[in-house]
Amino acid sequence: MRIDILTVLPELIKSPFEASILKRAIEAGLVEVHFHNLRDYATGGYKAIDDTQFGGGAGMVMMIEPIDKCITKLKSQRNYDEVIYMTPDGERLNQGIANTVSLKENIIILCGHYKGVDQRVRDMFVTKEISIGDYVLSGGELGAAVLCDAIIRLIPGVLGNETSALTDSFQDNLLAPPIYTKPRDYKGFKVPPVLFSGNFPEIEKWREDQAYKRTEERRPDLLDD
Ligand code: ADE
Repeated sequence: MRIDILTVLPELIKSPFEASILKRAIEAGLVEVHFHNLRDYATGGYKAIDDTQFGGGAGMVMMIEPIDKCITKLKSQRNYDEVIYMTPDGERLNQGIANTVSLKENIIILCGHYKGVDQRVRDMFVTKEISIGDYVLSGGELGAAVLCDAIIRLIPGVLGNETSALTDSFQDNLLAPPIYTKPRDYKGFKVPPVLFSGNFPEIEKWREDQAYKRTEERRPDLLDD
């Protein structure tokens, strides 16, 4: 998979890719991540990438031309499956969306700033709009980092144990069950004995029951659909 991230603040989004699982995935060649500074595509003496709104109103708008130039250049080099725009009015990110996006070959992620991008960017180039939650961030970069983390960990080979992404919370619309490691008894807080019974069907059933119980208590909305 190849991800091209278009941003006015590359320094804001690079660090998650320089540590831990994302770094290892890149080093192993399982994913390529490229950052493009939209300022490099700005024209004119001031290298402006934003301007005031037509019709008036507070806040600057990201101009179409630098974005067009960057996307057009990338598209001349390869085909893209999606051009994703990070925006609070997009579709709310969930595990299903992460699963779908993780299967793509090449994607572009556009990070908005200021008030957002000129509507014509969305009309002309964007194929998917994603929000990471019902709150407004100062830019799309942190949302893009969240999206990238959620999709990259699903790429086969990225996680050590191939089955572990499949047992995450949400993969079956259930939250994950409680997990334990040594010691068996910590200051009187004990690990449920079934987990060291060696009876694997029983352990599996316990985990399913716990996942269901936890979902019912914390996120009953997940059980509705
Ligand atoms: N940009 C600003 N707020 C955002 C959000 N909630 N999700 C994605 N991108 C954003």
